[in-house]
Amino acid sequence: MDPIAKLDESITTAPENIEAAETLSALEEVETRLLGKDSVVGEVRRSMGGLEKELRPKVGAKLNEATGLIQDLLDEKRNELQDQELELQLRDEAIDVTLDAVSFPRGRLHIIQQTIDEVIDIFVGLGYQVADGPEAELAWYNFDALNTPSTHPSRLESDTMYLDWGDPRDEVLLRTHTSPVQARWMESHEPPVYIVVPGRTYRTDTVDATHLPVFHQIEGLAVDENIVFSDLKGTLLHWAREFFGPQSQVRLRPSFFPFTEPSAEMDVSCFACDGGEPGCRVCGGAGWLELLGCGMVDPNVLEAAGYDPNRVSGFAFGMGPERLAMVRHGIDSIKHFIDNDLRFLGQF
Ligand code: DAH
Repeated sequence: MDPIAKLDESITTAPENIEAAETLSALEEVETRLLGKDSVVGEVRRSMGGLEKELRPKVGAKLNEATGLIQDLLDEKRNELQDQELELQLRDEAIDVTLDAVSFPRGRLHIIQQTIDEVIDIFVGLGYQVADGPEAELAWYNFDALNTPSTHPSRLESDTMYLDWGDPRDEVLLRTHTSPVQARWMESHEPPVYIVVPGRTYRTDTVDATHLPVFHQIEGLAVDENIVFSDLKGTLLHWAREFFGPQSQVRLRPSFFPFTEPSAEMDVSCFACDGGEPGCRVCGGAGWLELLGCGMVDPNVLEAAGYDPNRVSGFAFGMGPERLAMVRHGIDSIKHFIDNDLRFLGQF
């Protein structure tokens, strides 16, 4: 066979030989077979010297063509195999640095804390400051400074939990309401006073659907020049509309607290029936919800705190977040708040 035909055949068959190589070392063997000493290309190159003169350029050109083409194909295949092998290696040696996600159950604030926060926010929006005081309180602040005489029945052991007996100035008890913070705050601050006081309170109550010996209150106190009863009503109406909705109305009924004069109980129109559905699930048809105690600060309380009742006046109120939450969410027993049953707590 003449060398040109041999080289052409070599060119024709080279692609399938090269394509068949699956690894770099197999490709090296193919390279030897196609371009090595004993290959067609190798043989023809060696025989060049013995060729007739006129044949030589033609065979030489074909030899170059064949070598170039085959070399290009080999290079291309080599690149391809190298890429493949690198990819395999990367896959083999890859380390998974990710961890399975661990999901933690998401907590939330207790419904009582949520209720307190919401009430406090409304008053903070009106410019009130948030104050607090000790839960183990002196009888003086809990009672005497609040115009509550030593003979008052609430001071009996049947109502109040005492930690230490004695003179009111050093008699220690678990505060029965948040009102002592009124006296403490006024004692250490000059008027004007606009405070709200959330906190825990204690009474010798037996547990039933509406009583717990440990519960919460939110106290409010405003003392300034020219504070009058309509300021009290307007402030609490604003609060009721923010808390229960803009349709809310309030009504004040005469009452008695030692530290306010006059004193009142405040009712809010029922948010469920808007004051008029017989047998309403929230108000039972009464149309009104009894919510809190309030009144104008008794001049004796201002005086005990060192304020001049002829110069300043004020109003105060006290509400129970447990009661607010029960009314608002239709909760039938106060005990749910302390059962710590997540099926209950998770609803809020
Ligand atoms: N301290 C009262 C109680 O525990 C609630 C209360 C009523 C607070 C009238 C006040 C008030 O500040 O003015 O029942």
